[in-house]
Amino acid sequence: MSITTVHTAQTDAPILDVLAERWSTRVFDAETPVDEEALHSALEAARWAPSANNTQPWRFVVARRGSAEHAAIVAALMGFNRSWAGDAAALVVFATTTSVDGKPLAWASYDAGQAAAYFTIQAHASGLHTHQMGGFDREAIARAFGFGADLAAVTVMAVGALGDIDAAPEALRERELAPRTRLPLETTVVANA
Ligand SMILES: Cc1cc2nc3c(=O)[nH]c(=O)nc-3n(C[C@H](O)[C@H](O)[C@H](O)COP(=O)(O)O)c2cc1C
Repeated sequence: MSITTVHTAQTDAPILDVLAERWSTRVFDAETPVDEEALHSALEAARWAPSANNTQPWRFVVARRGSAEHAAIVAALMGFNRSWAGDAAALVVFATTTSVDGKPLAWASYDAGQAAAYFTIQAHASGLHTHQMGGFDREAIARAFGFGADLAAVTVMAVGALGDIDAAPEALRERELAPRTRLPLETTVVANA
């Protein structure tokens, strides 16, 4: 059975293949450069996400493996994330602009999350793998990229080709092969009149 089959969501109703087949790997190929066309398409998909009042409060830092920027993002990751995400061909910081004309953007994080979701779906449709991370030092990212008070990092997305799961360290292999689970809709749909 292929690794993609292992991770394909067992859904109770049909959903798009790309949604069922996306999963967050921690085993990236440390050699293959990022597919530039696919990365461009993923960023373009994020650009076309909806946002409150079309404010588009998302901002991206894109860093390819081998660059000082990639190394700076890796250094800002929390311990376990740092152990695997550095292999990813690209790391993308999803940040938000926090205000427009001095007015706070109430939906900025929500909108950035939608952009991230669009990014992941397009990336997977184009053959890239992704893994979002909240475990990183926001201050370190702000320092590394000269973020002012108007920019806040929300997540870091690891992006790249799938690595060799069989060659991965045991701790990663175990997590990688764990089944993907979700709460039942009966729990999350609180009313369905
Ligand atoms: C906002 C956010 C933060 C996350 N932070 C981390 C993280 O720091 N480290 C990690 O290994 N996974 C992280 N994840 C990945 C989730 O654990 C993963 O998406 C979830 O377990 C569901 O698995 P799936 O994406 O394979 O369906 C994060 C995901 C999101 C959306």
